[in-house]
Amino acid sequence: MLTTVEQRIARLRAEIEQHNERYYTLDDPLISDAEFDALFRELQLLEAQHPELLTPDSPTQRVGGKPLEQFASVRHEHPMLSIRTETDIGDNGAINFDNRVRRDLRLGSADAPVGYVAELKFDGLAISLRYEHGLLVQAATRGDGETGENVTQNVRTVRQIPLRLTSATPPAVLEVRGEIYMKRTDFECFNRRAAAAGEKTFVNPRNAAAGSIRQLDPALAARRPLSFFAYGLGATQGWDIPATHSQILDALAAYGLPVCEERVIAQGAAQLLAFHRRIETQRSRMPFDIDGVVYKVNNLALQAQLGFVSREPRWAVAHKFAAEEATTTISAIEVQVGRTGALTPVARLMPVFVGGVTVTNATLHNEEELRRKDIRIHDTVIVRRAGDVIPEVVRVLLERRPVHAQEFIMPQYCPVCGAHVIKLPDEAVWRCSGGLFCAAQRKQALLHFASRRALDIEGLGEKLVDQLVDQQWVQTPADLYKIDLSTLAQLERMGEKSAQNVLDAIAHSKHTTLARFIYALGIRNVGEATAKELARHFATLDNFMAADETRLQYVADIGPVVAQSITTFFAEPHNREVIAQLRAAGVHWPEQLDAAIAVLPLRGKIFVLTGTLAAMSREDAKEKLEALGARVTGSVSQKTNYVVAGAESGSKLAKAQELGIAVLDEQQFLHLLKESGMQ
Ligand code: IVH
Repeated sequence: MLTTVEQRIARLRAEIEQHNERYYTLDDPLISDAEFDALFRELQLLEAQHPELLTPDSPTQRVGGKPLEQFASVRHEHPMLSIRTETDIGDNGAINFDNRVRRDLRLGSADAPVGYVAELKFDGLAISLRYEHGLLVQAATRGDGETGENVTQNVRTVRQIPLRLTSATPPAVLEVRGEIYMKRTDFECFNRRAAAAGEKTFVNPRNAAAGSIRQLDPALAARRPLSFFAYGLGATQGWDIPATHSQILDALAAYGLPVCEERVIAQGAAQLLAFHRRIETQRSRMPFDIDGVVYKVNNLALQAQLGFVSREPRWAVAHKFAAEEATTTISAIEVQVGRTGALTPVARLMPVFVGGVTVTNATLHNEEELRRKDIRIHDTVIVRRAGDVIPEVVRVLLERRPVHAQEFIMPQYCPVCGAHVIKLPDEAVWRCSGGLFCAAQRKQALLHFASRRALDIEGLGEKLVDQLVDQQWVQTPADLYKIDLSTLAQLERMGEKSAQNVLDAIAHSKHTTLARFIYALGIRNVGEATAKELARHFATLDNFMAADETRLQYVADIGPVVAQSITTFFAEPHNREVIAQLRAAGVHWPEQLDAAIAVLPLRGKIFVLTGTLAAMSREDAKEKLEALGARVTGSVSQKTNYVVAGAESGSKLAKAQELGIAVLDEQQFLHLLKESGMQ
């Protein structure tokens, strides 16, 4: 018979563990911290009054006992092995492993693919947990694999580790192998608090996890937010070991041990590789650090057949990702002028292999950031390149700062054009005040001119624009139409064929629309929609250029600010000159309708496009109609004049027929364009 005190204690323990799980594992607490503390204190009090009822699986045992002099050593009943790391971080990592497994199992090409489990490679501290009759009795580090340190007191403080397995009939002995780690958010939060309290901070979550478990005061460990994943077995007694590794993981999860959900059963190398690739793309978004993936032969009988080489199993391998951080030195700090005139300090580095590529430059973002991190020329630094993100300097290794390390001084003049640099009161960046006289900003204007929604010059990207401007062959958009094949073909990485492609694209861009041309000029505050509106309203470029601020404001959606940007632009003789040159070079658009808007053939007509056209995209059809003065809307109504119905037209066509609106098929539509001078 249980006494009421025993019942109450059992009840409290169950409730507290349930709340621990909601809080630490599920991240979804049911009660407030104060309510939790009240339950906890009640349990502590009852246990103090009835010491004979205290058990090692009580949640009160998680808060940490007395500091130790030193850790006792523990001999592992089954050694804690490590796994071989594939040297090839590319695709061959999985292929080489699969080839070795197939060779060692004497499988031929006619045999089925080998079944594997692919898991994450957690970046923490390996640990072995020993449960006897369901109770956690010991936790040990790996040590040299044979003998580790007894860190039971510290490990008890990890809330995610069950002190008792959830099973009515647990095995007599179950040793669970896994990794203790710290989540990134927990790490940041912990470090922030430690820094505020003037205590020791850690450089990364792995060191924080390892440091917490391997220090002697369990009360300190109890305050560290640690987590755990199980990934394997040590010794067992009285347990029917499942036939596959994946079933072992499922069984551990059923016992209440945390097992990472991100795992798959994979057949053959191709599926292992697919897992590696997918995880690598998600790596930077994971809530915890990983440094690769682990592949394991799923079937335990096959594992036994494969056995070991020295201390590593032949049935498992780690396939790493490229390291995201590396150490190097800064040889210089230079300033780059961006396309908006922003000055960015950039560190020139001694070349270093990081994130899968050799890196020679890293951004320092802006002056404030550089001062905050106290980065100096000749410093030794940690560089980080995660995913496709631009490499950056994470921090300085101050202990390795040489005496001749030099502070960086922001230049007062733009290193590209010599204009003054200025800083707006609410911005962190310095900017060049040189405008279009600054080559850096001219490049921006050219890229805009050539962009897809402007004159759409395919192949004229950043690299080419940089070269053209740096060679001083191109100053303004009009210069683009003067380049010839032999000049272009001299450029780096530019064969005759690609040079010809670029020239073709430039020639092709001469035939455009007025709306695109206006947008391409890059007038401040004139975006694509405004450019279309202006083109429709004025119909000719001359009309548009002649308009004063009052007339400009007759145009829908144009207010005084935009009107002023436009007149300021045309007041600049240089801009008019560039436009004249562009026209002289042959840039043109359908302007057969010389003066007045009234002569636009489709002026005032409302069109609806539906279905797919074989000859052009709907976007193109819309643009052509608009150039002819028509309006294109999205839905059919009484006001619609024409519905252009391509293949697979649906409800809009039906609606048009219902309302008796003229329907043009593709042939008729193309005919109409031709008649209007568009094709
Ligand atoms: S299995 C016999 N699985 O990587 C196989 N290890 O040397 C034993 N690690 O120190 C290890 N994630 O701490 C395994 N999913 C995972 C792992 C993993 C991380 C660590 C482990 C060990 C090292 C491999």
